[in-house]
Amino acid sequence: METMTAIDVVVMAAGKGTRMKSSMPKVLHPLAGRALVQHVAQTAAKLGARQTVFVTGHGAEQVEAFLRQANPGQKMGFARQEPQLGTGHAVMQAMPLLPDDGLVVVLSGDVPLIADSTLTRLTRACDGQKLALLTVCPPDPTGYGRVVRNAQGQVQAIIEQKDATEAQKAIGEIYSGIMAAPAGLLRGWLARLDNRNAQSEYYLTDVVAKAVTDGVEVVAIRSDDLAEVAGVNSPAQLAELERIHQRRQAEQLMHQGVRLLDPARFDLRGELVCGSDVQIDVNCVFSGRVELGSGVSIGAHCVLSDCVIEDGAQILPFTHIEGESQGVKVGAGARIGPYARLRPGSDLGPEVHIGNFVEVKNSRMGAGSKANHLAYVGDTQMGSGVNYGAGSITANYDGAHKHTTVIEDQVHVGSNCVIVAPVRLGAGGTIGGGSTITKDTPPGALTVARGKQVSVANWKRPVKNKP
Ligand code: UD1
Ligand code: MG
Repeated sequence: METMTAIDVVVMAAGKGTRMKSSMPKVLHPLAGRALVQHVAQTAAKLGARQTVFVTGHGAEQVEAFLRQANPGQKMGFARQEPQLGTGHAVMQAMPLLPDDGLVVVLSGDVPLIADSTLTRLTRACDGQKLALLTVCPPDPTGYGRVVRNAQGQVQAIIEQKDATEAQKAIGEIYSGIMAAPAGLLRGWLARLDNRNAQSEYYLTDVVAKAVTDGVEVVAIRSDDLAEVAGVNSPAQLAELERIHQRRQAEQLMHQGVRLLDPARFDLRGELVCGSDVQIDVNCVFSGRVELGSGVSIGAHCVLSDCVIEDGAQILPFTHIEGESQGVKVGAGARIGPYARLRPGSDLGPEVHIGNFVEVKNSRMGAGSKANHLAYVGDTQMGSGVNYGAGSITANYDGAHKHTTVIEDQVHVGSNCVIVAPVRLGAGGTIGGGSTITKDTPPGALTVARGKQVSVANWKRPVKNKP
């Protein structure tokens, strides 16, 4: 019978992570753009945990501050473990925060890919009254705690590598580091732990033998997915898990119909929502929340964050779109790049063209407007059908304040113009190339603001005197 016991998650995150050789606490290193411990925090939330208690030690203040700001509204507790005397000792530090009526799920801050569906299997097996262990059978069990069973196949103990006999070392089933137990029972078992073992540590795994002694049933739930229980101890292991995770995300997208030209060269560090017939070339990086409409194509080597690309738009290679908190919108059928940069607050209408080495920031561009080469459009309200010439810029900053430029419909700005804001270019006007515009220009007129061209006939160039 399944019971509806409340779940309290404990995340062990006190370890130093020596092999990362980093000044940053290990659990704050990112996988797919998110701290390792944040993956675990979000999985705990998906599990519907009543609260999540993090056991911190090395870099405790940094880890706690990070978790507080990253998970507003999530019920979290923190327990310091100093010094670190083993995994059993770690969970003991959390016990004062855990009510007896709950089910405790023990996770590690450096095991980022554990699936909530696996944890749900574990908590169901626990059934509010048993001790449930998550186990795996890796190709090489060396270094892990072995799951020791009796002749009837019932779990009797977990024996750490350093304490194991040769016969025990031959066991292929290992403890993943993840367990679920009723809080009241766990409290009693932890109180009876000792550190009389090869590492002089308080082993969490010793609770198994205590449960057996108390006649509490121990169930082992097997996972076939080694990646979901893999811990990160070194940069190499972190990179390996990153690739596995990226590959899985890529496969999920391809399953939805997204065409990735090479799933091995695809990086998603956030959320990607795609319409139908989306194509993504190699070596693109997506972060934040990115929406790609139907028929969108993304060229090779693009970096996109927090943006919406509407139906049929083409993003050509080496384009950088960074929406941050303001976002970026690219309208239907627009063509951006190659080598374009769209910064926060860029709002481009349908069929807009942005070419190579063009930067747009906090600006709206109406339907069909074009800036095809080497230009800057900042703090600008641009109408539709505008042609913005090569090398032209809006001078939006006077050293103290940002000012707005208004460019009305159908204006033609020649090449190499400086448009000094605040200023308004009237509809249908033409700005002669090389102009520096400091005053509003009337609609329909040609405005030229540059030195007049003069020619001196029969001009003799200076010559050097002979010595
Ligand atoms: C532990 C298990 C072992 C299992 C293995 C799976 C024990 C005694 N052994 O091994 O059976 O096969 O995980 O990976 O539990 N930590 C603390 N405080 C401490 C010690 C550890 O917070 O005092 C944290 C670590 O930062 C880490 C996690 O607990 O996130 C697991 O510790 P680790 O040393 O990796 O586990 P092992 O002892 O190797
Ligand atoms: Mg250890």
